[in-house]
Amino acid sequence: MNIFTKPIENECITVVLLFKGSNDDLNPIFKCDAKEIYTVIDGNKKVIYAGLGEKKDFSLEVLRNVMAKLAKTARNYAATNVKINYIDCGKVENEAIQAITVGIDLGLYEFIKYKTDEKTCTETKELSFYITNTSKDYGELIEKTLNVTSGIRFARDLINEPSNVVYPETLANRAREACQAVGLDVTVLAGDDLSEMGGILAVGNGSVHKPRLIVIRHLPCKDDKSILGIVGKGLTCDTGGYSLKTTDGMHYQKTDMSGAANAIAIMLALAKNNVQQNVIAIIPSCENVLSAYSYKIGDVIKTLAGKTIEVLNTDAEGRIALSDALHYAKVHENVTQIIDMATLTGSVGITFGNIYAGAMSNDDAFFEEFMATAKEQEEKFWRLPIDDAYKEMLNSDVADIKNVGAPSTIVAAMFLKEFIGDTPWIHLDIAATAVKNPPAAEYEFKGGTGVAVRTIYNMINKR
Ligand code: BES
Ligand code: ZN
Ligand code: ZN
Repeated sequence: MNIFTKPIENECITVVLLFKGSNDDLNPIFKCDAKEIYTVIDGNKKVIYAGLGEKKDFSLEVLRNVMAKLAKTARNYAATNVKINYIDCGKVENEAIQAITVGIDLGLYEFIKYKTDEKTCTETKELSFYITNTSKDYGELIEKTLNVTSGIRFARDLINEPSNVVYPETLANRAREACQAVGLDVTVLAGDDLSEMGGILAVGNGSVHKPRLIVIRHLPCKDDKSILGIVGKGLTCDTGGYSLKTTDGMHYQKTDMSGAANAIAIMLALAKNNVQQNVIAIIPSCENVLSAYSYKIGDVIKTLAGKTIEVLNTDAEGRIALSDALHYAKVHENVTQIIDMATLTGSVGITFGNIYAGAMSNDDAFFEEFMATAKEQEEKFWRLPIDDAYKEMLNSDVADIKNVGAPSTIVAAMFLKEFIGDTPWIHLDIAATAVKNPPAAEYEFKGGTGVAVRTIYNMINKR
């Protein structure tokens, strides 16, 4: 698939974008509602009319959705060359081109590799989109944007893979292969390397698939001491362990490594686009399963930070694995700021549904920077409090802290904060937004979404 902003020869499909009220000559059935598609076929030429809805309601999110639907329609026609007449939609042109690119590339994403008799036409190798009528050529911007969406596609693939295929070792292998191919420095800690990381070891102990700590470094600014750490929860399967989940509750827990996948996506995009900022991804990866070797309720664990944890629920495992990764990021990789992404609590979905992700921070300026980019990218996050008044909910009778307490999403963040100290930090609880089935947008596919990748990548790129 290619996207150009240059003239086209031999188009097989022409796309006409229309706001509501501008379709006087067309079939009155076509109302120009947002995402409405109307095709006119004349011999072997097709014209696709695509509705943009009311101009007053228009947003780049509408544009991403319209483009995703268009791209899928073109694919269904087995199209090769598609001409899109760009119209002034009242948005800054380069932002609109970015939205068009995101919509097309993510709209065409599918995960159907395990369907042996899949009938859908998925061949997009020959598919090219030519956006005409723009004020200049946006070739470079499109290429950079496609490097972000290809990162998101890579993350979605990892998330959608089942846990018999992606487990800590194979997650590390895939990350290493993809990251080294674009010049990133990758270290994978395993076995004895993890001996001080009591949290990661405890969570992963029940499985034959042993834990890994994956470290991916992008350090282009040697004289700059500031390093952003991106920590992603990498549980390749979360059965709950002895605090066993139900069958339904377990179904999607192969996606409990979405934070890790999204962190890898960001690193790939930063490297491909040669972004001049120091960033390190740190991914604790383990499998929380039930066996004679699993950690148990009542166990006391010593973490890398030296703090002890009393395990009162083995299903609250993410925070335990993350505690070692956060400490490692600060002390061994010298990161100066941290964003963590984790499918941490089911209750974040009870609060926000699958629309907003929960966001928590100990630093207002850092959080504002993040939210400003989230707003531009139209990704939805909502802040919940971090307040020491919640701290007593982690009080343990026998250890420094216990691993559960209500209210769940905030207490989980308070637990992580114990390992953060004064480092400026943003915690994203993406448990309900990292995976969607059914998908919520035209540019999503059932399964992994890649939430927060566009926001975090663009935030770093703007620095
Ligand atoms: N991975 C889950 C969170 C989750 C739940 C993600 C549903 C996606 C969908 C996490 O490890 C977990 O089990 N959290 C527990 C914490 C509780 C025991 C304090 C939860 O939210 O139920
Ligand atoms: Zn769990
Ligand atoms: Zn989990």
